[in-house]
Amino acid sequence: MTGEVKVFDRTEDLIRHSAEKIVSIAQESIRNRGQFVCSLSGGSTPKEVYSRLAAMPLKEEIDWGKTHVFWGDERSVVRTHPDSNFRMAKESLLDAVGIPPFNIHRVASEEDPMLAAQQYEDDIREFFGISDGIFPEFDLILLGMGDDGHTASLFPDTEALKVQDRLVVDNFVRKLNTHRITFTFPMINHARNVLFIVSGSAKSKMIKQVLENSNAPRILPSQLVQPKPGLLFWFLDKEAAADLT
Ligand code: 6PG
Repeated sequence: MTGEVKVFDRTEDLIRHSAEKIVSIAQESIRNRGQFVCSLSGGSTPKEVYSRLAAMPLKEEIDWGKTHVFWGDERSVVRTHPDSNFRMAKESLLDAVGIPPFNIHRVASEEDPMLAAQQYEDDIREFFGISDGIFPEFDLILLGMGDDGHTASLFPDTEALKVQDRLVVDNFVRKLNTHRITFTFPMINHARNVLFIVSGSAKSKMIKQVLENSNAPRILPSQLVQPKPGLLFWFLDKEAAADLT
């Protein structure tokens, strides 16, 4: 099951339609459940979508007072570090939309990564009022995809790919020689909506592998994103979709 795949001729259309999709999920969530709980992704493509959401007219389409923002993954750096996903989202979106500070649920990424992951898991459980063994249903989990098939900070051949009993883990990524804090697959797969936003020719071979080659020599992390009963969306530009049949 690869979900609903949409290909846009121009990257600008990908960015605009992704932002509009987020708005429609936010409005449906607030209408039906009184709040919109989402997690953001790092990456250059998601960043362009955030900037679009932060600008008129879309910025007024979401009730930010009823919106709660989490991060699907974070680098193990202080919040002001150039690599911080929190900093990127703050600068490209959150500072512009007047979201209440207590609606922003940041990873304590300056802490020891194992502690930060445990603390984030505790924060999420407290927010949703759930105990161990129960997974929360985010209204939307936003994801990018790397050209190695990683998503969030679930990189190929890393320990986090196997974790089934945690919401959030510290994942050491050997190829980057760094620790990342990341949602796990069961966490992602319990979401009501999961939206991948992928652009550029550098991703086209991996997009073909992930979406068309179910018996790839090794399971690619992005292939393990299979929300049920939630909905999966892949929004691509023409370059990223170039190798799809
Ligand atoms: C991160 C992201 C990561 C990102 C992909 C795609 O923290 O780096 O969460 O999963 O979304 O690497 O990034 P680009 O859109 O910049 O290629």
